[in-house]
Amino acid sequence: MSGTHSDAFVFFGATGDLAYKKIFPALQAMVRRGRLDVPVIGVAKAGWDLDQLKARAKDSVMRHGGLDPVAWPKLESLLHYVDGDYSDLATFKEVRKQLGSAEHPAHYLAIPPLLFEEVVEQLMKSGCAKGARVIIEKPFGHDLASAQELNRILQSAFPETSIFRIDHYLGKRPVNNMVVFRFANSFMEPFWNRNYVESVQATMAEDFGVQGRGAFYDQTGTIRDVIQNHLFQILCNLAMEAPPRVDSESVRDEKVKVLKAIPPIQVTNLVRGQFNGYLKEPGVGPDSKMETFAAMRLEVDSWRWKGVPFYIRAGKCLPVTCTEVMGRLRKPPSMVPERVLTSNHLRFRISPEVTIAIGAMVLKPGEEIAGQTIEMIASRTPKPGEMEAYERLLGEAMAGEATQFARQDYVEEAWRIVDPVLKAVTPVQQYEPGTWGPSNMAEVTPPGGWHDPIAAEPIATTSQFPT
Ligand code: BG6
Repeated sequence: MSGTHSDAFVFFGATGDLAYKKIFPALQAMVRRGRLDVPVIGVAKAGWDLDQLKARAKDSVMRHGGLDPVAWPKLESLLHYVDGDYSDLATFKEVRKQLGSAEHPAHYLAIPPLLFEEVVEQLMKSGCAKGARVIIEKPFGHDLASAQELNRILQSAFPETSIFRIDHYLGKRPVNNMVVFRFANSFMEPFWNRNYVESVQATMAEDFGVQGRGAFYDQTGTIRDVIQNHLFQILCNLAMEAPPRVDSESVRDEKVKVLKAIPPIQVTNLVRGQFNGYLKEPGVGPDSKMETFAAMRLEVDSWRWKGVPFYIRAGKCLPVTCTEVMGRLRKPPSMVPERVLTSNHLRFRISPEVTIAIGAMVLKPGEEIAGQTIEMIASRTPKPGEMEAYERLLGEAMAGEATQFARQDYVEEAWRIVDPVLKAVTPVQQYEPGTWGPSNMAEVTPPGGWHDPIAAEPIATTSQFPT
């Protein structure tokens, strides 16, 4: 099975929000790049027919990136639709019928986690699971125990090598570029460790609220929504060792090792916040204590990182939308008074644009004896033109390429780290929308303070060496 390309794509939840916002545009892009030329079967219970699904798909691509005059008709011709209840085996028998001669379908469960078990069982009973792959949306459970149970259900129907757990951050090129930058540049290795790095911090800020997802968000909160998955993936890319080989298992082994080295978070190393106005969001409980902001301090007790604190913060209704990482180096033992020195740093900006920069100190221009921090920009690129995460990930899952998907042990280790603070009742502090979260952050502030990303960085024009 591994190495065989999927010969059909089935997606459950075809009439839902995720399909509308992400999946149809990704499918059109895959067709455009010649990466999708197999039947695409949408499944849902909406009382629709194929024409209605096509109309919805057309509307989706028009709103999200635009209709491609060549790729869209091709995608339209590949579309099939099965309408039916997931509790009814007949729905799945119809899927199997529509699959025709396909022997290795990829089933994508873009549905609420509550339905995973039922759908997986029906896939098995109907023969749809045979020779197939399954692609699962996050969240994988809501704590360690539920993630273990979900993994048990999935593995009862599919071997681990056929299970693809999506974390769309792994489909982002700048997230992968962090690993390339670390391991493709020998100058990184001497200083990217406990001897030189003082602290590492990652911020994922969003300047909007829960955007109509109040009911989902109020069951989830920031830690489950983006920290246990997206930000931990970033943390692993920052802290992992070079894999001995570049196959999917060797790379994923190294990421799991990072998580294994992280003790569970202490409640004293966590600040939770809630933006003022959250309680008025539709779907949110009137007395909800769910966090819309979280900041935490973690330890990575590995040979490379022991003693270096890692800080993570994420939140809704913050001043900007940006994901950025900053590693600060220890100050040099200079004869210049320490207070005038700033730390060198390494900065990865992941979105909205991509920047990799090294911060250094130089003399200020002019005659004054004074220093100034400048950044040496290794890379700065605008985002447009880049493959969207869903396009990349769906294509890789269908090709059986598992590197950019979360493995069972990874998911369970990640839950182990956050489980105690999820179960503990910790205070949630109010913050005003448009601020950097609660004011009382003393326990979780990196040495030298949080680096607050700015909204948009100027994109430098690229110059080329003459040939
Ligand atoms: C999703 C979360 O997984 O990631 C959202 O559920 C969040 O709450 C989103 O807004 C952020 O993704 P991106 O790609 O826009 O940074």
